Amino acid sequence: MTMNSIIKSTGSYLPERILTNAELEKMVDTTDEWITQRSGIKQRHIARDDESTGDMAIKAALDALATSGLSPDDIDGVIVATTTPDRTFPSVAVKVQGELGIKPGLAFDVQAVCTGFVYALTVADNFIKCGQAKNILVIGAEKMSSLVDWTDRTTCVLFADGAGAVVLSAQENNEGLAGQGIHSTHLYANGAQREMLQTTGGVSTTGDNGVIEMQGREVFKYAVSYMADVVGEVLERNNITSADIDWLVPHQANIRIIEGTAKKLDMGMEQVVVTVDHHGNTSAASIPLALDEAVKSGKIMRGQMLLIEAMGGGLTWGAALVRF
Ligand code: ACO
Repeated sequence: MTMNSIIKSTGSYLPERILTNAELEKMVDTTDEWITQRSGIKQRHIARDDESTGDMAIKAALDALATSGLSPDDIDGVIVATTTPDRTFPSVAVKVQGELGIKPGLAFDVQAVCTGFVYALTVADNFIKCGQAKNILVIGAEKMSSLVDWTDRTTCVLFADGAGAVVLSAQENNEGLAGQGIHSTHLYANGAQREMLQTTGGVSTTGDNGVIEMQGREVFKYAVSYMADVVGEVLERNNITSADIDWLVPHQANIRIIEGTAKKLDMGMEQVVVTVDHHGNTSAASIPLALDEAVKSGKIMRGQMLLIEAMGGGLTWGAALVRF
């Protein structure tokens, strides 16, 4: 008998304002055709000036709690994956904890850019597996619009805002891979590649947040190969084949990277959760947003096997095998 962390419920929040490619055509020298062909993005949600990452995280967390059958009193911890916190400190996680009236317990942020949710899920899974917590709110929340240089056409067309959340709960498992829960997690970073995708500043250097600068073509190249490697590792480690996977739930950066990973897995696109067309790249929020949309629409059903994967600044990358 082992202890597994199961995804008890999912939730999400997207800001009301939708920014279309047609509007971007009026802001920078770009076209709907270029953005669609290169990235697959048609529109994205952008937060209001007075709407913070924490505000969005709270809404996603409340949504996930509502269907969990748990109350804030049952939650032992809050882990938020974000690159765009409300303040340098304290963390977004303590804001969520405080605003939801969750009792004192662990609460902190994880920063691994677009791979953040996979990192946060892994940390929470380990707390649960070692018996230090029973129910953890794991949130991915980002206001990437606040880090974008809106005059830089190479990045401003890609990034967006939103939040997604899951309630992760301890459950005994004696069925091996047939049982519900997180079966394996795989995390990587290659710090030698940190300058490929970074901000131009930060607290202890320039004293401001900086804006995103990205060597897009290079990042794209490594994204495709790292994703192929890590999904291969998931299959090998668990002694399964891609035929055992029901859904690929990838980070939503670029439809071409997603298609490349699906191809490597020999999976048809009908088995891939795609939201990049209407969400854009919401960094750490993209996987829980995609997951929640697929669960609520009835695509992902209980008992199905999910392969989650992401790649982002650092470079960082990772994956998780989860029976929902
Ligand atoms: N509109 C029109 N033309 C553009 C635009 C634009 N918005 N942006 C760039 N171009 C031009 C370039 O200037 C270049 O012109 P040139 O040939 O005259 O020099 C041309 O289009 C091709 O540019 P590339 O950068 O080679 O285009 P590419 O096909 O690589 O697509 C993209 C760019 C979409 C950024 C792609 O490289 C990509 O998706 N990279 C990976 C991004 C990613 O996955 N990031 C990781 C997660 S993000 C995170 O962790 C924060």
